[in-house]
Amino acid sequence: MNTILVASNRGPVSFTVSEDGSLSMRRGGGGLVSGLSEVAKELDLLWVCAALSDGDRAAVRQAPGGRLDRAGYDTGALRMLDIPPATFHRAYNAVANSTLWFVHHLLYDTANTPHFDARFRREWESYQSYNAAFAVALAEEAAHGAQVLVQDYHLSLTPAMLRIERPDVSIAHFSHTPWAPPEYFSLLPDDVATELLEGILGADHAGFLTVRWAEAFMDCCEAILGAEVDRDGHTVSHGGRTTRIGVHPLGVDGEALWARASEPDVESHLAALRDQVGDRRLIVRIDRTELSKNIVRGLTAYREFLAAHPEWHGRVVHLAFAYPSRHDLPEYREYTAAVQRCAKEIEDEYATEDWDPLILNVNDDYPRSLAAYRMADVLLVNPIRDGMNLVAKEGPILAPRSVLVLSREAGAAAELGEDALLVNPYDVTATAGALHEGLVMAEEERCRRGARLAAAAAALPPHLWFAEQLAALGWSPGQAR
Ligand code: G6P
Repeated sequence: MNTILVASNRGPVSFTVSEDGSLSMRRGGGGLVSGLSEVAKELDLLWVCAALSDGDRAAVRQAPGGRLDRAGYDTGALRMLDIPPATFHRAYNAVANSTLWFVHHLLYDTANTPHFDARFRREWESYQSYNAAFAVALAEEAAHGAQVLVQDYHLSLTPAMLRIERPDVSIAHFSHTPWAPPEYFSLLPDDVATELLEGILGADHAGFLTVRWAEAFMDCCEAILGAEVDRDGHTVSHGGRTTRIGVHPLGVDGEALWARASEPDVESHLAALRDQVGDRRLIVRIDRTELSKNIVRGLTAYREFLAAHPEWHGRVVHLAFAYPSRHDLPEYREYTAAVQRCAKEIEDEYATEDWDPLILNVNDDYPRSLAAYRMADVLLVNPIRDGMNLVAKEGPILAPRSVLVLSREAGAAAELGEDALLVNPYDVTATAGALHEGLVMAEEERCRRGARLAAAAAALPPHLWFAEQLAALGWSPGQAR
């Protein structure tokens, strides 16, 4: 039994089966993992996550009760849940990543509107049982009075389910995405919208990345549930319980990032990129190939910039990293193809024998992207909508003289908006103009803005972000173990 538990769909490590049948383990990236590795040593912590791959499932079968104790990674003990694949597929791909992700990022359009039919009902039942599996595991593992931190839109129902099983534990839920406004959230069937909101309100503390998303959540609670919202006191009361609402704008651990970005593998990519780019200026973007990241409009903006500014031909390169993501979903496969088509059109139109205007990298290559950050003159981050966007925070830390062109719809704009060049992500022409403005910005001004961006980006590093949420549940640092 543990006193602090974290629950998320994707866990801190993943396993792969090697050819000889042995298992090898890989640590994942992301703010939550790095935040926990700093504090986990001090805590009696268990992480509950889903088994996502064949390797994970093999690891679960080898471990008694699916529980892997502090085995060579630094994020505490781990329990992986072996959810039946069909249930997992419907909960993760159909409900979480298609429906809920699309709702919170406002991704539906007239060509792609949701159908909440009998098939959706089966998918929704799977989402309920997937959430219930987490609640059951957490109820089994939590010590009396434990603190449980439930993460993200995959697990919106778990807090209320866990509360029924274990009224003694304190529960926090954290949304890493934006939250949709009520008129968009109520696209969902009424009972589904209600259950999602009441699921999160089963927590004692509901955390968001920005004030904007917290307010949208409170607006939904008021409009859809008729809940009592105290905006000054930051609480929502409903069904005889009160949930506190908190804003915790996750930032970056600058020291750890620099340490990683100075390792030999990054240095050798840096040398190779310098050879490739020469003394040309560099515009960089780094994203998962994700519909909300708005990569096609970003590339089109670069194309418009080249059309409007022939004086830059031969003198600038756009390095675009678009890593594979969620390829089980047809929308993502089609989007990846659209990104590649757009890149090819730019190449066909502008490339010359000695100038590659665009380098598109579609493979996962973390050290190469760290090298690209370090070289960037302009960093383009233009999502349609984003919970926070840590690329916008990592970039200024690694290249404090780079100019950040940032979507006003990214959560990061709340903290970085004054020193970034803010753009409307739908306005391709304005984005093209901002790329140009970034390239010609005077050295002194880019350094002045860059230093402030880097400081804001490191304001709440993951370990403090995590500690803030534990504190919101009444935990204090002396209480470790
Ligand atoms: C977003 C979500 C995370 C998720 C990540 C990667 O950042 O907030 O919960 O883990 O995307 O998506 P994936 O579907 O690969 O886990």
